[in-house]
Amino acid sequence: MSTKIQPPKGTRDFYPADMAVQNHIFSAWRRVCARFGFQEYEGPGFEHLELYTGKSGDEIVGQLYNFKDKGDRDLALRPEMTPTLARLANQLGRDLRKPARWFSLPRLWRYEKQQRGRLREFFQLNMDILGSDSVEADAELVAAACAICEELGLKAGDVVVRISSRRLVSTLLDELGCTDKPPVYLALDRREKLPREEFEAGLRGSGLGDDGIRRLDALFSATSLESVKGIVDSAPALAALAELETLFSLLAAHGVADWVRFDPTVVRGLAYYTGVVYEVFDAGRSLRAIAGGGRYDDLLQKLGGERLPAVGFGMGDVVIAELLREKGLLPSGIPGPDLWLVSLDGDGRKLATLAARLRAGGRQMGFSFGGGKVGKQMQAAQENGAKRAVFVGSDRVAPHQVEVKDLATGEQKTVSVEALCT
Ligand code: HAM
Repeated sequence: MSTKIQPPKGTRDFYPADMAVQNHIFSAWRRVCARFGFQEYEGPGFEHLELYTGKSGDEIVGQLYNFKDKGDRDLALRPEMTPTLARLANQLGRDLRKPARWFSLPRLWRYEKQQRGRLREFFQLNMDILGSDSVEADAELVAAACAICEELGLKAGDVVVRISSRRLVSTLLDELGCTDKPPVYLALDRREKLPREEFEAGLRGSGLGDDGIRRLDALFSATSLESVKGIVDSAPALAALAELETLFSLLAAHGVADWVRFDPTVVRGLAYYTGVVYEVFDAGRSLRAIAGGGRYDDLLQKLGGERLPAVGFGMGDVVIAELLREKGLLPSGIPGPDLWLVSLDGDGRKLATLAARLRAGGRQMGFSFGGGKVGKQMQAAQENGAKRAVFVGSDRVAPHQVEVKDLATGEQKTVSVEALCT
């Protein structure tokens, strides 16, 4: 006996009901991107391995699906979109119209341990602005992330955008004499998941001593921007703080003050962030991050281009869908056609003729093949999610007329085929 082949671990099958959910989220993403004036782009599903090694950070590189192709090239399925975006922008060089507001909905792959909210294949909305140094661009993207949550039916209080500044942490690390920062960012990002000793050992491994760990702890326990002022005192750190203050006042002007909060513990695990960083979480923090992003002013240059400031975020489809499901905000069932033709006389040609007329008029419709019992055809209409049944071949109505039954109310009336077609 042969066993049925399962989908690979960490991947999903999308049956029509699942696609309805997926499309619900994707269309909200697209509507908000359009409202914010973003243009869509795409790239290849796999890239040269070297696009990721050394640029994204060790965690994501450890999760790569990489392989050699038949020409012995080292390739990797894309685990994130940002390096591809940077490559695309670098290729355009001076021809890139700046600031570019671009979005994409890529399918991504990461060899992660499969767990709630984390899969090995997922989709991720990416919204990025290339070519603006202004904190107004950071604010625009945080506002867009909030607008997406709202578009999907969530309210301020359901989710929180936790905002901090990589520059703030980076300048403190400079004050502490730390020379190898990416492992520190990764350790700080995983702080809650690591046992305290392991976390501290990671920091010591990057050259931090007791004083350094104490100052980082102090920064991480700060509850307001004001209270950070007593913890950092270098001019660059104070500039990073001032930038955060401007950001929060801009976010208030965007009308999203209730959605956002300063949280110094957000550093982000990816190596390339340089400025404001943020993560979106459900308010109860029972789920993994819904979205994350920030400023990455050096990545394009590191990938061989000119220096081009950039900001952006990624929002996966998995966690947001979980949250919407918990809140009862997902559509149920499958979207069906408006009409279902039910043959009373078993004449398939009559059905095909009427179907062609209706479809030419833009109607969405279906019918059962081979006629059969009316009850069975009505059941098919229900199962396919049709809204109305159209009885064809009835001798109770005049030629060029049909009986139409509303499947929700049961109401039945006679209408002309002409009226149905237009
Ligand atoms: P990231 O924090 O790695 O950032 O991912 C952003 C979001 O993608 C996460 O908050 C989560 O919703 C989703 N996500 C990540 N990994 C998985 C997974 N294994 N399964 C399901 N969902 C996942 C980035 O990827 C950056 N490139 C975002 C960015 C764009 N930064 C600037 N522009």
